[in-house]
Amino acid sequence: MNCLRRKPNPDVQANGQDFVTALRSGILHRNRMWVELFMTRSDTPYQFVSLFSGCGGFDLGLVDAGFVPVQAYDSCADAICHYQRNVCSKAVQADLTEFMPQIDRTPDIVIAGPPCQGFSTAGKRDLADERNHLLPLAGRIAAHINPRVIVIENVTAAASGAHLKYWKEMEEHLRSKDYRTHTLKANAADIGLSQTRRRLLLFAWRTARDIDFQIHAKPSRRLDVTLSGVEKLPNHDPEPLAVDSRDYRIACRIGPGQKLSNVRGGSRSIHTWNIPEVFGKTTAAECQMLEFIMRVRRQERRRTFGDADPVSVARLKKQFKEQTTPLIQALLHKGYLRRVGTDLDLCHSFNGKYRRFQWDDKACTVDTRFGEAQLFLHPNEHRPFTVREAARIQGFPDDYVFDCTKRTAFRLIGNAVPPPMGRMVAGFARELLGR
Ligand SMILES: C[S@@+](CC[C@H](N)C(=O)[O-])C[C@H]1O[C@@H](n2cnc3c(N)ncnc32)[C@H](O)[C@@H]1O
Repeated sequence: MNCLRRKPNPDVQANGQDFVTALRSGILHRNRMWVELFMTRSDTPYQFVSLFSGCGGFDLGLVDAGFVPVQAYDSCADAICHYQRNVCSKAVQADLTEFMPQIDRTPDIVIAGPPCQGFSTAGKRDLADERNHLLPLAGRIAAHINPRVIVIENVTAAASGAHLKYWKEMEEHLRSKDYRTHTLKANAADIGLSQTRRRLLLFAWRTARDIDFQIHAKPSRRLDVTLSGVEKLPNHDPEPLAVDSRDYRIACRIGPGQKLSNVRGGSRSIHTWNIPEVFGKTTAAECQMLEFIMRVRRQERRRTFGDADPVSVARLKKQFKEQTTPLIQALLHKGYLRRVGTDLDLCHSFNGKYRRFQWDDKACTVDTRFGEAQLFLHPNEHRPFTVREAARIQGFPDDYVFDCTKRTAFRLIGNAVPPPMGRMVAGFARELLGR
């Protein structure tokens, strides 16, 4: 029993239920060790190999569904330690660009979660990012291992624009090896989680079966339900913002469901000029010019890229007449406007910092920066989220231990496939495999 080393569920031990009854009642789904015990006695569980395993978010979903990990690979030492401690001892630190896994017994499934940084719209989307090649590499290694089912996960932007070539290369390689393929779009919010997280899952199979890749949608869970009871758990160590710090003063002005944004209108956006105690005072006329630029920069587009353009002085003169020059001078001086060539644009033109989520709604994608108050705020406290809160929103079980710096924990959690999405994948894989 070197894999799945969680403690047996005390509820099951205490009331002495037998394995079958407990498994059917669902109690044992939370207890991977007992599931494996049961499966090895009466059935042969499906086995899987995990490439780019990270800390095992994807894998935990398969384990919850009764699948057994036989080997996992990742280049990051922290990810491997966490995998070994929380999922299975059979995890190896390896750079998969230099190492071809040799597996004694062909597994039923290979799962892979290669890096998404070069594809993600949250980053630079550099077409030449070296990490983009890891996507087709995952397909080649998986095909070399030769399982009956392969599932490769990535962000939806991996299959859009010029980046699509990497996705196609991966898919074409798998098809050349006689796999049938299907790309499934999945959103964590549609499987009952409290976050919007849209992902692509490439299924490749060689089992002479076709299935209906239909996601049975469940409503997303409210954040207050998801985060209930976290106070008592490990890895929950709230860090309130220092009173009177810049972040605190901004946070005080951002209500539930709102964010700091100068480039979007509406009641959900608080602008820097609404927070004079931090960003400096403005007159009513200056505010009018800023709000006018905010609208026009998006509505009157001239370039074919981006989603907004700087505004010309001539356009401002049409609106503000003789007031234009003094207003521009004042706003340049106060740091609210900047020159872009001969045109003008807003300073702080990010779309959404200090996003404060609301209890009766879901969060946006939990990424590696989820612990930064400048990006995400707790619904009713002036602080960022804790590691345990991020893990809960991602669907990690409460007994998953993060024994590392907070920065590392947020990286492992933000990079992970939510375990419930892994569990959904396991359901499709089981159908493809025939039981
Ligand atoms: C998106 S994360 C995987 C998350 C994982 N699927 C989960 O659910 O927890 C990508 C992983 O690829 C790993 N990685 C990046 N380059 C690698 C390489 N050359 N060889 C092996 N692993 C690599 C990173 O360390 C990171 O853990």
